[in-house]
Amino acid sequence: MLMAEAGTQVRCTSDAVEVRWASGVLSTLPNLWLRDNCNCSDCRIAQTDEKKFMVCNVPVDIAPESVEIVDDCLHVAWPDGHKSRYAGELLRSLGRDDSTSRERWPQNYVPRRYDYRAFLDHDKSAAEAIREFIAHGAIILSAAPREPGILEHLAHRLGPIREVLFARIHDVAVDPSGYNVAHTPLPLPPHNDFASYSWPPSVQALHMLANETAGGESIVVDGWQLLTEFRDAHPEYFETLRNMPVPFREFDDTTETFAVEPIIRCDTEGEIAGLRFSNQLMQMIDPNDRRAASFYRAYHELCRRITDPAVQVSFRLHGGEILIVAAHRVLHGRQAFEPGGRRHLQDAYFELDNVRNHLVVLRRKGGTSNER
Ligand SMILES: [Fe+2]
Ligand SMILES: [Zn+2]
Repeated sequence: MLMAEAGTQVRCTSDAVEVRWASGVLSTLPNLWLRDNCNCSDCRIAQTDEKKFMVCNVPVDIAPESVEIVDDCLHVAWPDGHKSRYAGELLRSLGRDDSTSRERWPQNYVPRRYDYRAFLDHDKSAAEAIREFIAHGAIILSAAPREPGILEHLAHRLGPIREVLFARIHDVAVDPSGYNVAHTPLPLPPHNDFASYSWPPSVQALHMLANETAGGESIVVDGWQLLTEFRDAHPEYFETLRNMPVPFREFDDTTETFAVEPIIRCDTEGEIAGLRFSNQLMQMIDPNDRRAASFYRAYHELCRRITDPAVQVSFRLHGGEILIVAAHRVLHGRQAFEPGGRRHLQDAYFELDNVRNHLVVLRRKGGTSNER
């Protein structure tokens, strides 16, 4: 079957409908996909715009009775008399990436700075900053108040806050009773926080209230780029770290968090989706595990790469600045500092899904100025 309208061609194959649009773009639409995605008022809940139709209510080998293109829409008639209609514009847009995907860090990259007040008060500034954040995984908000608790206000743009144990907003300052290396003046190798959760927070905000010590430069590492190069150089090591479960623990007298997860997470397409790395939280793996020796060879190489100064971007986070990182992609750390001067940081966590959704809503509003 072949029908055409202004250069568009449509035909049925054994299990799909193929549309060659006038622009040359080809849409291949499996029959069950088409039936499942009918958006007529019988198949959707009009009030909520959710799906009502369930695919098992038609035969698994369902095929169109007829197909045609009219007014840039694909019309399908089904054997049971049901009729479906799909907008060409929608079909052509499917599977295409939008502008919210990851980008590599350019040469001499440092996280871009945005004004804190504009980020909170103006939709357009916020949309621009969030787009940059999603592309590169890090931004800095500058000229923020140097008062505790300010991170609560970011919930308006990034939130809600993802709470974890210990505290809703975490204080990081030198503290002889602190539960973590962050509470000492020691260097902090690049890591992500809460590797001890099966789903660690995917966004972290670090608010510098005061930084009056010598040293303590902040460090960020693009884990995505690092893992891309790691996989190219050592595909077998990559697979080892993707498959080996590793225990992580963070605890104090009253708190206990523990997870056993691989260091590298890939999505269903095999794309790098997350890096879980915390030298300080990693626990003993079972030395009798037959994979232990090969794990350590792979882990040795990964550690060597993460601690290589060539991959580390370092800069001074001043009082009143907030570094925000996409925490499953970007590792953060700091150099050692001289104890004595005041250095006070607060951390809060968010989730990348929510941040993305804020951007979608801001774009829907048109990204125009909006005083709160
Ligand atoms: Fe940290
Ligand atoms: Zn329908």
